[in-house]
Amino acid sequence: MKRILVLNGPNLNMLGVREPGIYGNQSLQAIEEMLRAQAEKLSVSITFYQSNHEGELIDRIHASLGEVDGILLNAGAFTHYSYAIRDALAAVKIPTIELHLSNVHKRESFRHTSVIAPETIGIISGFGAYSYEHALNAMNRYLETPSS
Ligand code: DQA
Repeated sequence: MKRILVLNGPNLNMLGVREPGIYGNQSLQAIEEMLRAQAEKLSVSITFYQSNHEGELIDRIHASLGEVDGILLNAGAFTHYSYAIRDALAAVKIPTIELHLSNVHKRESFRHTSVIAPETIGIISGFGAYSYEHALNAMNRYLETPSS
């Protein structure tokens, strides 16, 4: 069974409360429930981790080596400037999809840069909570046929 980790960075524990006009009304827990149901349909195993701390996210990426087949990563604002998270992804080389609820390219210019993107398979951005479901489907497909 494929093992997928959903890794969420800073402020994503505040979903549902935080800027609902941008991020929607669903809590992170509600999104996780939706993903659990989708993971069951796809017959993949799924785990979740959220931290507001860069070092904890990096520790979790390191600990995923040999334990996880794919990572769905919403690194929050760390996306835009954390070379340390980028280097952690480069170190473990676990296939990773970068995802965002909002369309970061429609927003402030500092959000147009992703320093982690070069270490990912691809990016999903702008579909609200469904960005997570799209990322899970994409990862499942990628792990079945990595070259297509
Ligand atoms: C985000 C976009 C980031 O720019 C922002 O800092 C976040 C959330 C998103 O999911 O849309 O915290 O990653």
